[in-house]
Amino acid sequence: MIEFSERVKRLPPYIFAELEKIINEKKRLGLDIISLSIGDPDLPPPPFVLEALREESSNPKNHNYSLSQGEPEFREAVAEWYKGRFGVDLDPKREVIALIGSKEGVANITRAFINPGDRVLVPNPAYPVYANGGTILSGGVPVPVPLLEENEFKPDLTSLPDTEAKILFLNYPNNPTGAVVDKPYLEEVVEFARKRNIVVCYDNAYSEVTFDGYKAPSILEVDGAMDVAVEFHTCSKTFNMTGDRIGFAVGNSKLIEGLLKVKSQVDSGPPIYVQKAAVRALRSYANGEPPEYVKQVNRTYAERRDLLVEKLNSLGLKCKRPLATFYIWLRCGGDSMKFAMKLLDAGVLVTPGIGFGEHGEGYVRFSITQSTERIKEACERIEEVI
Ligand SMILES: Cc1ncc(COP(=O)(O)O)c(C=O)c1O
Repeated sequence: MIEFSERVKRLPPYIFAELEKIINEKKRLGLDIISLSIGDPDLPPPPFVLEALREESSNPKNHNYSLSQGEPEFREAVAEWYKGRFGVDLDPKREVIALIGSKEGVANITRAFINPGDRVLVPNPAYPVYANGGTILSGGVPVPVPLLEENEFKPDLTSLPDTEAKILFLNYPNNPTGAVVDKPYLEEVVEFARKRNIVVCYDNAYSEVTFDGYKAPSILEVDGAMDVAVEFHTCSKTFNMTGDRIGFAVGNSKLIEGLLKVKSQVDSGPPIYVQKAAVRALRSYANGEPPEYVKQVNRTYAERRDLLVEKLNSLGLKCKRPLATFYIWLRCGGDSMKFAMKLLDAGVLVTPGIGFGEHGEGYVRFSITQSTERIKEACERIEEVI
């Protein structure tokens, strides 16, 4: 009799299984479904990245194993990007590591610092990897930190549920709520973490997907953050390179060392040609200023956001205009799965908030990773069933 490990058994039930069955059945019947569900950009990577990938992948030398920590040139480019973009100094030898996408880093960091039964503070609703791939599969216990609308979807640091926890995960700009923070809030987080001796794993995956003049800070801009924090980044969202699997973690050297210890036993680093293409992507920033490509992508998202938010509000559905991310977090009230099913009957797929944790119930997430035309069509379909 083959049995799953206790850790795997502790993973929560896959809430989307039922939804998936229904979607597949609709597709089988040939129905057109507009997916505003997944966080995978529809826009292409920049032409200079595609060119770099073509060029670098045709060099046979770039097909050997890469260094577990990432190629020196990649780590240097990350450090330069950090200096330009956030004004943060990093030592590429000790404070930077390449990741096979930031998901991998978020999941592996806990393996280095969590013992069985250790508690980890995990925002709720949140990207599910913090609780599942990260905490539970490391033998830890996720302790939910509610992200409530009345607190602008930020944890209330004065009433965090567990003072014994070893790690606090945070993610701003936030998936799924679209919430953002400013530097003073991050200063409070760092002060809290230093006092309580908690490691902060700060997921900054959406730092470059921002609108209306908002600029996302790095937690490492805060004095003292280097003592307690590691920050995760990715080329997935900034350069639409989700399938290329390239990200990085930066911050406290002991945290980076722990991640490296785990990773060197688990994987062999992102392909060298992908790292080289990512170097060109990062160096397309000039003194912290994004290239025209990133600005244009953000203008496109902002246009889609305005269109969708206006339409949903005009239908009496409540959602705000987020300053970052490509997600719209809509308060549907009640059962989010039921609401999502209702939209699915009209051929529009959104993500029920319950899929991001119990505090996501009563909300659904729209992902604006479809063309304006498809979003308009989705709005017409929604209008019919609302
Ligand atoms: C908040 C957040 N962090 C990390 C990731 C992982 O991105 P990747 O592994 O592609 O870098 C995602 C992907 O959707 C995300 O939403």
